[in-house]
Amino acid sequence: MNQITLTRPDDWHIHLRDGPYLKQTVADASRVFGRVLAMPNLDPPVINSLIAGQYRDKIMPFARTQFYPLFALYLTEKTTPQDIERTKIDSDFIPAYKLYPAGATTNSKFGVNSIEKMYPIFESMEANDLVLCVHGEVTDSDIDVFDREKYFIDGVLSRIIEEFPGLRIVLEHITTEDAVNFVKSTSRNVAATITAHHLLYNRNALLEGGLNPLYFCLPVLKRDIHQRALIDAATSGDPKFFLGTDSAPHPRHEKEKICGCAAGCYTAHAAIELYAEVFDKFEAITMLEGFASHFGADFYRFPRNKDTITLEKINWEVQKEIKFGNDQLVPIKAGETLNWRIKSKQ
Ligand code: DOR
Ligand code: ZN
Repeated sequence: MNQITLTRPDDWHIHLRDGPYLKQTVADASRVFGRVLAMPNLDPPVINSLIAGQYRDKIMPFARTQFYPLFALYLTEKTTPQDIERTKIDSDFIPAYKLYPAGATTNSKFGVNSIEKMYPIFESMEANDLVLCVHGEVTDSDIDVFDREKYFIDGVLSRIIEEFPGLRIVLEHITTEDAVNFVKSTSRNVAATITAHHLLYNRNALLEGGLNPLYFCLPVLKRDIHQRALIDAATSGDPKFFLGTDSAPHPRHEKEKICGCAAGCYTAHAAIELYAEVFDKFEAITMLEGFASHFGADFYRFPRNKDTITLEKINWEVQKEIKFGNDQLVPIKAGETLNWRIKSKQ
């Protein structure tokens, strides 16, 4: 198949950043996606609908018309059940809250130390039908970095699901076979996003031939059997798995540091094309539409987009570097050839 038309896709997990970076991130995201769920880990974080509304006002000038940014608010230990109720009443562009275990990732210092203390908040979210988006990793330094997702699922997430069976939960950017199996077998209120980079790469990309910071992200890339389980899940047509790029730009100098490389892969410049690459390689291009355009909207209870995009199979070269405010950004597949691109409307 050399061409495919899809309902316009949505990205249910993206980092748009702020200030001078918005021009690039928003232009890239709105090139293809109808809706994006923007993550709140700015500094200071996006903790309420007032701040989210101001953030949206900064985003819109850089977007294609008919682009609808939605926001996940940042859960902190100061969030109250009343805040949750207010969010529900105030805004139709905030379908979710994001749970960051403190210390798990970029700007998670405002996050949660004791997840059990958040139970009254989860109760209010369940009652108000707001989705809980979860960065699913424990942060204990005695737990191996490669096992942190599994420990989170077994020790934390399972309990939340048991206590709040009506709470809709998205386990974000899953990286392991354990996560795939867990999501498949647990309550229908639990789903997962899968990034393009976790489908395209395993930990060899990060470690082989010398450390390559381009591929450092969190949760970190795992071994190939896990990559294969993610590919199987994404291409299976199971509506519990849907598109969330976790496109997370960091300027080149923050990635290419001798020590302390920033975690995150930028994929928004070619997001749908990167997914198409994987789906096509595994002879599942016809499964892309459900994953990219239907299942996320259904889970979040938004209508599916009405318009379409068309992808065609033609080689093109990804730019080596992207201007990023006053900095430079190295995108995933920089300087490499991709096989799919968006067909411009005639
Ligand atoms: O790799 C990542 N980058 N993982 C995250 O969870 C956060 C993100 C970021 O904001 O840079
Ligand atoms: Zn993220």
